[in-house]
Amino acid sequence: MNDNTQDPQTADIPRADWEQLAAQHGTPYFLYDADQVRQRVQAVRNALQGTAQVYYAVKANPNLALLRSLVSHADGVDISSSGELVQAQLAGFDAASMSLAGPAKTSAELEAAIRAGVGCISMESVREIEECARIARRIGMAAHVSLRVNPLQLNRAFGMKMGGRAIQFGIDEEELPQASARVLALSPWLDFQGLHAYVGSQCFDPAGIVEATRNTLRITRELEQASGLRCSKINLGGGFGVSHGQERRELDLAVLAPALLPLLKAHRDTTPWPCTLIFELGRFLTAQAGIYVTRVVSRKASRGKLFLACDGGLNHHLGAAGTFGATLRSNFALYNLSRPQAPPRVCSLAGPSCNPTDLLGVDAVLPEPAEGDLLGVAMSGSYGLTASPILFLGRDTPAELVRTDGAVVVGRRRHTIADFN
Ligand SMILES: Cc1ncc(COP(=O)(O)O)c(C=O)c1O
Repeated sequence: MNDNTQDPQTADIPRADWEQLAAQHGTPYFLYDADQVRQRVQAVRNALQGTAQVYYAVKANPNLALLRSLVSHADGVDISSSGELVQAQLAGFDAASMSLAGPAKTSAELEAAIRAGVGCISMESVREIEECARIARRIGMAAHVSLRVNPLQLNRAFGMKMGGRAIQFGIDEEELPQASARVLALSPWLDFQGLHAYVGSQCFDPAGIVEATRNTLRITRELEQASGLRCSKINLGGGFGVSHGQERRELDLAVLAPALLPLLKAHRDTTPWPCTLIFELGRFLTAQAGIYVTRVVSRKASRGKLFLACDGGLNHHLGAAGTFGATLRSNFALYNLSRPQAPPRVCSLAGPSCNPTDLLGVDAVLPEPAEGDLLGVAMSGSYGLTASPILFLGRDTPAELVRTDGAVVVGRRRHTIADFN
């Protein structure tokens, strides 16, 4: 059971006149605080002390107004499709400061990335290496590429493991000699940039990040020595962890920095050519800066349990219902925004759909909600609407509001289901 009885005005969530926003934009809605996201970027920057760049992983939250607010704060973006490429360009990011990764890049996507001048296209298979070179030769433009490696070592510190085992991402470490030989053979159409490793998400242990970094830098050295290729850009991944529950657990930058910085500095100091190191972070930058606000439509008891049926649920926020990338379901941080002083009560928050897993909270302790109350699902700035089945059951999508420089703007308006016909 979670204790969600904290007053939202004292909690670390975006502050707003919730009812006024509901009157203007309807419910449910998301509110993202871009000012907070910028502060998080700055906090990571401060911790890294200029040893590495900070890219934002667009997939965590591709909202245009949010992206715009990051243009002069993040060093670049990690994108995973042509759609994200266009969105990041619309926001004002330069293609040269983008890194494209994903296991199924189509020929059309590769061509769009090469034509746009994407700074680093991660090659995840020998087929992609060959295809990129073919396209580059045909259109007469070099492709800026890196090799994404799937390390041999499994790093157990990452909650979601995306390397170190048989997996669809990257080129297996033991296959790098053949892959680098193809890259060399296909230059100058392939303008080799360096190495990319993304071994997982949700790492809360600084030692895990340090170990992943050490391993990636070792692989880089070995690749350089064996092939003669020069790695001038090394994307070290990230996976900085942040929990979505009331406990607000996250990777401690103050513990990470003293262990990580010597490694990064040593690599740069011993590399004979200029070398840029990059971390690409999603949820660590945006999760805490977003809240999903939904209204209680109906209150009822079933076999002794109190249920609040709300106008929003898994159709807008699959993650909060526990079915996006979580091994075990756990409640996000929940608030009664209308009645923070009400006495606590154990209750479950149901969404509007016909699916029994549509629960935004299970046995949560909340200031007792009444029909009409606004409830807030905090820690919702990442993998919220973007990772949800919005067409399911034909309800309107929620407005996405973004507070930037103190003012709230509509980052994406509500859409009716008919807008998607
Ligand atoms: C290649 C890559 N980079 C960055 C991210 C962002 O991860 P997170 O939001 O956990 O920081 C992901 C997540 O899947 C990813 O696959």
